[in-house]
Amino acid sequence: MRLLVCGGAGFIGSTFVRLRLREYGDDVTVLDKLTYAGRRENLHDVIDNIRFVHGAIEDPAAVGAAVIECDAIVNFAAETHVDRSISGPEAFIITNMQGTHVLLEAARERGLRYVQVSTDEVYGSIDSGSFTEFSPLQPSSPYSATKCGADLLVSSYYHTYGLSTTICRGSNNYGPYQYPEKLIPLMILNALAGDHLPVYGDGRNVRNWLYVEDFGHGISYALAHGAPGETYNCGGPDECENIDVVRQILSLTGREDSLIEYVKDRPGHDRRYSLASDKLRALGWTPRVDFHEGIARTVDWYRSNAWWWEPIRTGEYLEYYERHYGRALKP
Ligand code: NAD
Ligand code: TYD
Repeated sequence: MRLLVCGGAGFIGSTFVRLRLREYGDDVTVLDKLTYAGRRENLHDVIDNIRFVHGAIEDPAAVGAAVIECDAIVNFAAETHVDRSISGPEAFIITNMQGTHVLLEAARERGLRYVQVSTDEVYGSIDSGSFTEFSPLQPSSPYSATKCGADLLVSSYYHTYGLSTTICRGSNNYGPYQYPEKLIPLMILNALAGDHLPVYGDGRNVRNWLYVEDFGHGISYALAHGAPGETYNCGGPDECENIDVVRQILSLTGREDSLIEYVKDRPGHDRRYSLASDKLRALGWTPRVDFHEGIARTVDWYRSNAWWWEPIRTGEYLEYYERHYGRALKP
């Protein structure tokens, strides 16, 4: 298949590109703006086997250049960090909503298949049970609100123009190449450095963890077998309180629990996410990696790939960290 992967230089997008080359032999074009989270290093082992276009999804000219000779668009490109959406929502509105609109127009003009990569966060928080695809959309953060807006636009292009769209909503991903602003890579790198581990609130928020390759497979099922106009949840096999995630990381890195530091909670912090994925499972998808195995693999990867993360822990990242956590990282 000839695929345009938008946001393919990010964490999940680059994993998807690798998987598609390896398991499907696709002809892949990546369109990526290379924001702080998008890095050529994420594609270091496959860069010679793809076409790379440096550009923004909200730029029709860049999209027009990238989409040539493609059969389908899979859109990962987004601003993705909830905390950054709270301190600066504008970029989220431009990329997540306007950018999605530009991609949908490009798909409509050319009659392309379109898959939107979305998130469980569009449903908001749930105290017990799990969200299905029919649950109401109740986003809490500017991040999740703009992902909702994008999903609604995608659905409208199916209903209004008959575009072959499918939405795939993943739960919290983790694994190699994740930017260390998100819980798991941040805690791993801080633990390896013997630095503090900043846990928001009481640490009892629950996330539904999905190993990143399993999401890549889930999106592939949605692309190949998902019905036009439909949405598929793709939830991980395990749920875990943040504090338990942090304790497992401390144990795997051989550090003491005394590194844990409870810090001010995130405003509007969703308590629990949980996805029912029966629809995607009915297409044949099943997650292969449980949290116990996935977190061990992930810690090993960060331990062995300092070349990847050392350049990140400078400049903008250090400034962000200090501004957000009110303290400097250990050098
Ligand atoms: P990421 O932040 O690691 O990567 C985002 C990528 O998009 C980067 O390569 C960045 O350069 C690129 N990008 C940002 N703005 C762009 C623009 N305007 N034009 C072109 N490229 C742009 O994010 P991720 O964690 O890999 O998430 C990918 C997608 O999956 C997002 O749509 C996100 O909402 C969704 N998702 C993420 C998770 C998760 O746990 N990380 C879970 C479910 C769904
Ligand atoms: P995050 O990785 O930002 O994903 P999301 O908020 O999109 O689910 O955060 C996962 C959980 O970890 C969330 O409940 C917030 C919490 N968290 C901390 O406790 N400390 C941190 O430094 C970060 C970044 C997150």
